[in-house]
Amino acid sequence: MIVTTEKLFEAAYGKYAIGAYNINNLEQTMGLFRGCIDSKAPFIIQISKGARSYTHKNMLEALIRAADEIFPEAVFAVHLDHGDEATCMDCIQSGFYSSVMIDASHEDFDKNIEITRRVVEAAHARGIVVEAELGQLGGVEEHVQVSEADAHLTDPETAKEFVERSGCDSLAVAIGTSHGAYKFSGSQALRFDILSEIQKKLPGFPLVMHGSSSVPQEEVERINAAGGQLKGAKGVDATQFRRAAELGVTKINIDTDGRLVWTRVHREFFKEHPENFDLRPPGKEFMAAYAKFIAEKNDYLGSAGEL
Ligand code: G3H
Ligand code: 13P
Ligand code: NA
Ligand code: ZN
Repeated sequence: MIVTTEKLFEAAYGKYAIGAYNINNLEQTMGLFRGCIDSKAPFIIQISKGARSYTHKNMLEALIRAADEIFPEAVFAVHLDHGDEATCMDCIQSGFYSSVMIDASHEDFDKNIEITRRVVEAAHARGIVVEAELGQLGGVEEHVQVSEADAHLTDPETAKEFVERSGCDSLAVAIGTSHGAYKFSGSQALRFDILSEIQKKLPGFPLVMHGSSSVPQEEVERINAAGGQLKGAKGVDATQFRRAAELGVTKINIDTDGRLVWTRVHREFFKEHPENFDLRPPGKEFMAAYAKFIAEKNDYLGSAGEL
């Protein structure tokens, strides 16, 4: 059943976070649904611009509608990940998405508000909710001076004004994570001090953490042992999700980890079966491995058992 993120966030706020997982193909979709049902967790399916153009945006919509029929017990929202204004408008018009993210975080403060505001007006008119972003992920290097590094993180002082003026329904905050498999040049510290300040300014308001893959070292080692070359890959410590949830984070975005599971399964499979050229045996292995991975992740998020 497709629901709005608003409902999911209301139930989760302060207690646990909802996993927001990206999909691009049917194997990810099947593994995701299976893992969330096995762990009895509500979830968010995220579709990026890249995913929409990988095959065709209608293909993903059809996959999700089919999965919804195959797994009638599933409770999930469909969300546009990192949209620009035009893609947000397309998703709002389509009537399929429960929520969209407008990512104008690279713009200056007023411009970010102005763009977000336009998307919010169009979305709310159709009962769709909007995630916006303030601050910028990534690029926080160890050698960068503290004040310089902080400049990319979300400024708690302006977060409230941003939310009030833009009208957004949830806010993605930059608190030290980055996208991809190479996070944190130094220690794995999330900036809970900043998160806590943001929560004080916006009590009860749903916050979102991007770039939250854990990049499990076992996956990385197995990928490298099977011929991969992922050097120094590093992620977020999943045991910190609960603390983030207590501080108002209701949605945690995970994409890279799924790609790592896919790469590990396929590299190992074809290394062990060099004579094989059937795509289904590794596909089947991946769906099972991904389902297991998702169920474990939902445990860390605290969403497991909340269905
Ligand atoms: O934040 C980006 C997500 O991981 C989606 O990645 O744009 O390559 O589909 P993508
Ligand atoms: P990861 O690269 O850590 O999986 O982050 C995904 C994300 O933030 C999608 O919006
Ligand atoms: Na998002
Ligand atoms: Zn992201």
